[in-house]
Amino acid sequence: MFDLTGHVALVTGAGQNAGAGIARALAEQGAAVAVNDLRPERAGATCAEIEKAGRTATPVPFDVTDLDAVRKGVARARDALGGPVDILVNNAGIPGDMGYGPFRDIEPGRWHGPVEINLFGAMNCVHSVLPGMREVSWGRIVQISSGAGRTGLSIGVSLYGSGKSGVEGFIRHISQEEATAGITANTLALGLMQSAGGPGVADIAAGIPVGRLGRPEDVGAAVAFLASPEASWLTGQTIDLNGGSVTR
Ligand SMILES: NC(=O)c1ccc[n+]([C@@H]2O[C@H](COP(=O)([O-])OP(=O)(O)OC[C@H]3O[C@@H](n4cnc5c(N)ncnc54)[C@H](O)[C@@H]3O)[C@@H](O)[C@H]2O)c1
Repeated sequence: MFDLTGHVALVTGAGQNAGAGIARALAEQGAAVAVNDLRPERAGATCAEIEKAGRTATPVPFDVTDLDAVRKGVARARDALGGPVDILVNNAGIPGDMGYGPFRDIEPGRWHGPVEINLFGAMNCVHSVLPGMREVSWGRIVQISSGAGRTGLSIGVSLYGSGKSGVEGFIRHISQEEATAGITANTLALGLMQSAGGPGVADIAAGIPVGRLGRPEDVGAAVAFLASPEASWLTGQTIDLNGGSVTR
């Protein structure tokens, strides 16, 4: 079950934490993995780990907000790994400036960053991989989102939450447009991860029913299932992966 041998995956922002966990899990299931990160040295480090485990990976550093760079990166992944990207995981979602704070206090010049990476970054990647997926009549798109896209919070993350809610809607539409092409599209809305920082984190962590924060391997396992051939009837959904936290 969940054998990804013969598939080519692209994981964005996979140089550390959740993204690295996703890349490792997909490689472990047999996929050849294109490891993206804005920072080349991080992409290289994740690839080295995967190769050390006897699996296949290639670094494709680029900025997901730069459409031209994304297109070139997707082409490089195909050349290096011997086939079109047929598994895309949009994981990059933490911009340099998260625009933390009550919205009323945030200058308009800071509104764009969190939306740009989460919504337009995902659009750039989806648009760049769809032709290859349609070519092989098979594809898996997994979007990494957050509880902040599903629940209103008063911890100063309205811009980030807007980007995440927007991309969840986008992915639902893609799931419908591509359903007959053998392509599924789903979103995983993560709860707080071990690596998290930012305001309000301690309070949220204390309220997690299973009593711990998320680990990269928790995300990797869920993505490996969503990316698998066996998950072909699961599309258009947002799944909470958050240790049992209630969303509202
Ligand atoms: N950390 C959490 O608690 C948490 C909670 C809910 C959801 N999430 C989501 O999970 C995903 C991963 O979060 P994380 O905490 O592991 O992130 P992280 O910041 O630890 O790692 C993300 C990686 O993305 C890279 N990156 C940043 N901008 C990029 C860009 N424009 N193009 C390509 N790569 C870029 C960074 O260099 C970094 O290596 C994000 O989508 C985030 O929104 C995280």
